[in-house]
Amino acid sequence: MCGIVGYLGKKNVSEVLLNGLTTLEYRGYDSSGVALNNGSELQIIKSVGRVKDLKEKIQNEKLIDASYGIAHTRWATNGGVSDENAHPHNVGRVTLVHNGIIENANMLREKLENEGYTFKSETDTEVIAALIDKELKDSDVINAITKATKQLTGSFALVIMIDGEENKLYATRKDSPFIIGLGDDETVMASDIPAILDYTNKYMLLDTYEVAVLTDKTADVYDENGKKVDKVVKETNYLKEEAGKNGYPHYMLKEMMEEPTVVENLINYYKDKLNDLDLSEYEEIHIIGCGSAMYAGMIGKSLFEKFANIPTIVEVASEYRYEKVLYTRKTLVILISQSGETADTIAAMNKVKEREDVDTLAIVNAEYSTIANECDNVLFIKAGPEIAVATTKAYILQALVLTLLARETAYKKGLIKEDEYQDIIKQYELLPKQIRGVLEKRDLYKNLAKEIYKNEDVFFIGRGIDYSMSMEGSLKMKEISYIHSETFQAGELKHGTISLIDEGTPVLAIITDKKLKDKTYANVEEVAARGAKVIIVTTEDIDVYKELKIVVPTVSEFIQSILVVPSLQLLAYEIAVLRGCDIDKPKNLAKSVTVE
Ligand code: AGP
Repeated sequence: MCGIVGYLGKKNVSEVLLNGLTTLEYRGYDSSGVALNNGSELQIIKSVGRVKDLKEKIQNEKLIDASYGIAHTRWATNGGVSDENAHPHNVGRVTLVHNGIIENANMLREKLENEGYTFKSETDTEVIAALIDKELKDSDVINAITKATKQLTGSFALVIMIDGEENKLYATRKDSPFIIGLGDDETVMASDIPAILDYTNKYMLLDTYEVAVLTDKTADVYDENGKKVDKVVKETNYLKEEAGKNGYPHYMLKEMMEEPTVVENLINYYKDKLNDLDLSEYEEIHIIGCGSAMYAGMIGKSLFEKFANIPTIVEVASEYRYEKVLYTRKTLVILISQSGETADTIAAMNKVKEREDVDTLAIVNAEYSTIANECDNVLFIKAGPEIAVATTKAYILQALVLTLLARETAYKKGLIKEDEYQDIIKQYELLPKQIRGVLEKRDLYKNLAKEIYKNEDVFFIGRGIDYSMSMEGSLKMKEISYIHSETFQAGELKHGTISLIDEGTPVLAIITDKKLKDKTYANVEEVAARGAKVIIVTTEDIDVYKELKIVVPTVSEFIQSILVVPSLQLLAYEIAVLRGCDIDKPKNLAKSVTVE
């Protein structure tokens, strides 16, 4: 998704802006641009392609001596990839950058054209600029911005320059992420926290429709009624170097290799902190998320139902937000999101928040995010920066938190006894070393990758929680190696999907559930009989298999997925390497899907 950077201060403005855009590249984009200002002159430079293409263009220009500026990486939504459609956009007195989608842009564009405005681009962003310019004709700046944004349907984070308001930037947001960094005699704003860390660790967040008036030394904030409000200045302990590759070829590999450490940290942090979060009174749990976050939720469902006897549904946020959800008993809605800014998950959260009788719990990585700050309760997964678009460590920690919650709730409900409760936590403490052991077998995954990487279809099968684990394994395969992959409930094969199995079709069978292992192995034999190339992913105490396989240590059912999924992540990674894919920035994907 798009990235925004703004800066006021004494440093080289174009360098600060380009540095910020480079840090935000992982968010996914296809064009970029900057607007420089020295208080009397405005200079806009835009380019399709990568930030390095923009940098080349800037270096070939005679630059003004700017004292402030804004910049943007655009992930095309309204209008194709072109210089014209790239941000920043200027209309009249207004120059701005925008992250989000305006759903009523066409209606507003027509209205503005009827009032004499003409547009150079196809974007919704240019419409916002024109709307603010129009409102400026009979309102002061803050009121003009508020009047304009109140007419918008959709999401936005805006950083705005106004002609006649020298050495000032204005900012406002609704449903799109945005951070204001407060440095010494410099102010830097961005879509995500890594882009401000070179300048400050102090930041503030805007609430919906608030307008910030920013200079290099001040940050005044006004609410939607134009009343000045005091904002809490927070401090982050994120370190920029944590967001680097630390010598690994890809962020994804680095972040997988961090899994033992971040798992250990999270277990130590939560092992005696969850007892004041009592879920035992809930009669139903809804777990909502998108993509991998939802697949982590599937792990939680299996455990809440099996061990805590709480009926649990897992839904993708983009469906849940529109469904007629019946809350017939005391319900907890858990919203899972690494970024805390996924548009559909925010919308699902807002839907639930309309009800007084339903509680919300966020399981999030980004401490400053919308979902973290707007749920009744939040559990941070403390993954640190996750830069690769394909999530790895964050998924593992999302699932881990859910296992800890399920264990805690089962104990509170008297469904597991004290000795079992204590024994399981001892198994948790062995996990970091065991995960390290799983990840260290690089040759195993490289050799298995050689068996698969030339195929264009790869199927996964599993039953129960094994099926849930394979959902994440299949998504990783798709996301980074671009191989078509699907997961089938193993029992479903005979009902149609086995028709897809041909000679040499790779099928990964996840078999960790002891009670179901023979059933799933019978399905393995069915696909093998039709020529499939089978790889079994199983545990040491089950392993009796002659097929190609990945074998992980046997641990408590609460945490078996925490050992299996890293192996599926690393296998997908090795396959993508063999296929020469762009591992950290897969085509068409963005790290945080902040638009619908
Ligand atoms: C996972 O590898 C993908 N990047 C994607 O499915 C992601 O999990 C999903 O978009 C949800 O993102 P979130 O956790 O930031 O809400």
